[in-house]
Amino acid sequence: LTFDAENRYLLEKLMAIDISVNFCGIKSPNPFWLASGPTTQFSWQLCRAFECGWGGAVSKTFGIRTKNVSPRYLATNLRYKERFSSISNIELISQESQEKNISELYKVKKVYPKNPLFASLMVENTKKTWQEVVKKVQDVGIDGIELNLSCPHGMPERGLGATIGQDPQLTRITCEWVKEVATVPVFAKLTPNVTDITKIAIAAKNGGADGISLINTVSCIAGVDLDTLKPLPTVGGFSTYGGYSGTGIKPIALGMVTKIAKSASLNLPISGMGGISCWQDAVKFILLGATNVQICTAVMEDGFEIIKDLKDGISKWMEEKGYNSIEDFRGKSLEFIKPLSELDTTYRVIAKIDSQKCIRCKRCFLACTNSGNGAVEFSQQEGAKVIREKCTGCGLCAIVCPLSDCITLLPISRVGKR
Ligand SMILES: Cc1cc2nc3c(=O)[nH]c(=O)nc-3n(C[C@H](O)[C@H](O)[C@H](O)COP(=O)(O)O)c2cc1C
Repeated sequence: LTFDAENRYLLEKLMAIDISVNFCGIKSPNPFWLASGPTTQFSWQLCRAFECGWGGAVSKTFGIRTKNVSPRYLATNLRYKERFSSISNIELISQESQEKNISELYKVKKVYPKNPLFASLMVENTKKTWQEVVKKVQDVGIDGIELNLSCPHGMPERGLGATIGQDPQLTRITCEWVKEVATVPVFAKLTPNVTDITKIAIAAKNGGADGISLINTVSCIAGVDLDTLKPLPTVGGFSTYGGYSGTGIKPIALGMVTKIAKSASLNLPISGMGGISCWQDAVKFILLGATNVQICTAVMEDGFEIIKDLKDGISKWMEEKGYNSIEDFRGKSLEFIKPLSELDTTYRVIAKIDSQKCIRCKRCFLACTNSGNGAVEFSQQEGAKVIREKCTGCGLCAIVCPLSDCITLLPISRVGKR
């Protein structure tokens, strides 16, 4: 093949890959949606996002008027990086009126009719108020409704948000009221701040919900100023519980998505979110059962433009793996999750340290001496060495090592039940 022919061949192969998703009769050009938040408040934002290539979006939650405080975001940094990885926010739902929000959605649907747009709603928890707002948003042609049953700060003080999503009865009845008048799919957005997420998801399904969105933010206090002793962010001298989002919550979100996807009685589309910042994260959510994914914090930090890498990355990975559509790999990792009691106790790994690569930092030696089985020996001449007989294969040495390829965990032959 000439260089041009080879490029054309690769391009054609990539173009044959279909990353669209289709659920509840809604078609989205790709699985990447903007999650409800500060990036989905105004029509100009949503239009710009669709112009950049986002598949769909969920509007900033609206329904009752609020007044925000300032400041309302606090970043927590990755240990070795300048960029933030996660944030705590004390932002409320939209400050604007229902009418203003609905007219914003109308404008977006006019310009981008093919990109699915959900209205995220939260109103006083009565049948009348829910049904009124549902009818109004449907009139402007939105494609679906996401019920915010999950905001963990501010709104619960008014009996809304997570107060509903922490109570199976309230969750079911709210979904029922909405479904009585809904002509578009209704997703219940759930809070991770519960003991058993599946109970709440089942309640939403019993109330008629067509899908589950999860997770909203994790309730937190993200910091304290050591000079003033005031928790952060400090608003005129005081602070409050915030909602934690971004990469720090990804394992919680993946765990909860898995629980919902594995729950035999549920079988509903899942809109997964929580800490997604790259295409690899998104693939993990889909492998664990999500139908599409939503992103908020990563877009706040890096802008709508990240969509290009998300789409390119997933397409190239699918091409390499031989998948032609998202459905080809959705839920594929679920069969590998079992109760711990069913994992094989005869399977063992052992650490191997490459003495040529060891930089004599001693981190593995200290970790194994302080928290492990004392299985790492250290000398300046020879570096770190594993005492095979003592190594229990926990993997701590490999994760504290600053190098990515110095310590490997090698499977050893079965060692007999312990
Ligand atoms: C500043 C901020 C405001 C948010 N506002 C809303 C909201 O109005 N309604 C809602 O359902 N979720 C809201 N969320 C939660 C996000 O939609 C999402 O569920 C959560 O942040 C986890 O995803 P992420 O880690 O990609 O941000 C907000 C999140 C942030 C960071």
